[in-house]
Amino acid sequence: MPSRRTVLQTMLMASAAAPTLLAAAPALAEQAASLKDAYKGQFRVGAAINTAQINETDSRGDPIIKAQFNSISPENCLKWNSVHHEPDRYDFTQADRYVAFGEKNQMFIVGHVLVWHEQTPDWVFRDKDGNLVDRDTLLARMRDHIATVVGRYKGKVHSWDVVNEPIGDDGAMRPSLWYKIIGEDYVAKAFEYAREADPNALLLYNDYSIEYEAKRKGANALIAKLKAAGVPVTSVGLQGHYTLDSPSLDQLDATIATFGDMGFKVPMTELDVTVLPFPMGQVTADVALHIARNSTLNPYADGLPDAVQQKLAERYADLFRIFRKHRGVVDRVSFWGVTDADNWKNDWPIPSRTDYPLLFDRAGKPKPAFDAVIAAATA
Ligand code: GLA
Repeated sequence: MPSRRTVLQTMLMASAAAPTLLAAAPALAEQAASLKDAYKGQFRVGAAINTAQINETDSRGDPIIKAQFNSISPENCLKWNSVHHEPDRYDFTQADRYVAFGEKNQMFIVGHVLVWHEQTPDWVFRDKDGNLVDRDTLLARMRDHIATVVGRYKGKVHSWDVVNEPIGDDGAMRPSLWYKIIGEDYVAKAFEYAREADPNALLLYNDYSIEYEAKRKGANALIAKLKAAGVPVTSVGLQGHYTLDSPSLDQLDATIATFGDMGFKVPMTELDVTVLPFPMGQVTADVALHIARNSTLNPYADGLPDAVQQKLAERYADLFRIFRKHRGVVDRVSFWGVTDADNWKNDWPIPSRTDYPLLFDRAGKPKPAFDAVIAAATA
């Protein structure tokens, strides 16, 4: 298949030489390389989409989503605080639009996320006096939430992130209110409730940093225990919020192999690659306020130097070579956002920086990293 560049160059040359051929341009443009076609038969390629994109008011992002991806994830609209902000009221307005968008475009639709310690309203864990509820009450609330949300989209949402980030960075169970109130089996219960609500959807354990040994050991022990007990986990999702150097390719390779050998699918669920420094320690409010002008913490506010652009492209090519090595086990690679402007890394861990973590730039143009990922599909 000709590369995207080749097709575009051919179009330009043809139109310069023979203006009458211009009418053929749309047909040629349709042949431009796409991620979903390049990896067809290997794994799905997806993106997390935001409210404007779901509502089709993002004229820059929407054409990219339709042309490039065959899977979508909801950035926020299916989180607990979006659909179930108050105890007795569900609001599915935006979530319904998200699912309709996926169906209209014949995409593999991801549900994210059922049980997490963040973006979950405080009422979930408390009684009307503000005291923590007991185990049975919290389990009943969890079951109602999962049955209602998963049940509504049964057969439409193909894959659910059931539990997000249950392990802490030290490899022990994260001391979230889910864990403190219910105990370790909150994880198993969430999967059982999800399976009751949809007998066919893929059900994911989803986490970050399990590529690193300490956390992987803890995740491994928990997941092995769930598997031995017959808990219906189908997949171990790696969020994939990476840097230019870390995790190492060996760590990624070993992680996919570990969970693949246990019989799980290992999708990449939230891939992005930051090029910015990660500040160790506290960033003072004053530094954060003036971050736009801070050349150490925000070095690429005026653009990405070619050398870094190239490094990002090589990093992406290396990552996709590992994903391809494990194709089948890696059944989906989803990016966390569409263009660099959409990605959370611009505001985390410090607000208002300029990061370049994805394959499309702020104008929606494919970056060298895009070409590298397309090339890696057959290399
Ligand atoms: C986690 C969550 C995502 C998203 C990202 C950062 O990885 O799973 O939903 O919130 O953090 O934005």
